[in-house]
Amino acid sequence: MSRPLTFLGLESSCDDTAAAIVRLAPNGPAQILSSVVAGQTDLHAAFGGVVPEIAARAHAEKLDHCVEQALTQANLTLSGVDAIAVTAGPGLIGGVVSGVMCAKGLAAATGKPLYGVNHLAGHALTPRLTDDVPYPYLMLLVSGGHCQFLLVSGPDTFKRLGGTIDDAPGEAFDKVARLIALPQPGGPAIEQAAKSGDPRRFAFPRPLMDRPGCDMSFSGLKTAVLRARDAAVAAQSGLTLQDQADLAAGFQVAVVDVLAEKTRRAFALYPAAAPRTLCVAGGVAANGAIRLALETVSREHEANFVAPPLALCTDNAAMIAFAAAEQSQHRTPDDLSLSARPRWPLDQSQPAMLGSGKKGAKA
Ligand code: KG4
Ligand code: ZN
Repeated sequence: MSRPLTFLGLESSCDDTAAAIVRLAPNGPAQILSSVVAGQTDLHAAFGGVVPEIAARAHAEKLDHCVEQALTQANLTLSGVDAIAVTAGPGLIGGVVSGVMCAKGLAAATGKPLYGVNHLAGHALTPRLTDDVPYPYLMLLVSGGHCQFLLVSGPDTFKRLGGTIDDAPGEAFDKVARLIALPQPGGPAIEQAAKSGDPRRFAFPRPLMDRPGCDMSFSGLKTAVLRARDAAVAAQSGLTLQDQADLAAGFQVAVVDVLAEKTRRAFALYPAAAPRTLCVAGGVAANGAIRLALETVSREHEANFVAPPLALCTDNAAMIAFAAAEQSQHRTPDDLSLSARPRWPLDQSQPAMLGSGKKGAKA
């Protein structure tokens, strides 16, 4: 790379419409010139989850406004952009199609190169955008839609070490919150309630601990909370605030234990290059108890621990622009036949995961 590259990125694979501009300098850190995210929480609130059709329509309506805003905030026009990057999957297909069509329109109108980016690659490369983390590094993606360990060895080289075989942890936090009458999103509500709870009162399972490797399961844990709740309700005809706090604390510590132990196993599959780094991304990375456990496991392995700022851990378009800019050093652009993919495993050598979360395919 002989001169700075300025990429416009678009993201619309779930319930956030986003556009961003990122500049990659030949020998300096990447710079986020703008990052606009328009959420859709209000549109889906009444339905208890993301409604794909509503999401797709909202993306189609908002994408061009987000692009305009991103350009204005970066003090640029389209002519100052070198390439257009867009999430081409995995995700809710209507939303991904909206983004890909918008990006194709921009590329066709301006003659700029077009890059289709895997959404998970965007998350997985974020620690290089924020902290310039050297390859190879270990990545734990934990959100409402994703949960997997990746060994990241290059902008296009990902080895999937394991992941959830059913629910993503954020999905489990949200469902458990609903079960014990806490508000949505469930993660922050459970974390708060757990502070005054006794994590030892309920003995919840740690699923798949007896199985080797880094695969995880969270749906049985949710069922165990349901049974414990029902037993408490039956015993005293209702749930006290203390019951609620104890259930939240017991559930949270079970998730923490599973993630910590599976992270130890992921370290065993991470070649002993120095320096070693564990990175985390996704909304669940906001959880203090989970962060603390991951930091402790990193210390045990003499590894650095990197958690990008939350706005870049959750869905955004800066990660898509940055991933495309990094990948553009090693790959050719896509043409206008680029298609949207509901499923797109990062590591093609691994069998596809079953099931799809409320926020789209788990890939
Ligand atoms: O990455 P994200 O914003 O969206 C996608 O999943 O795409 O993650 C949202 C998820 C929700 O399920 C939410 O409950 C969870 O992250 N979350 C948390 C916390 N904050 C957000 N989970 C546990 N503890 C938290 N403090
Ligand atoms: Zn995501």
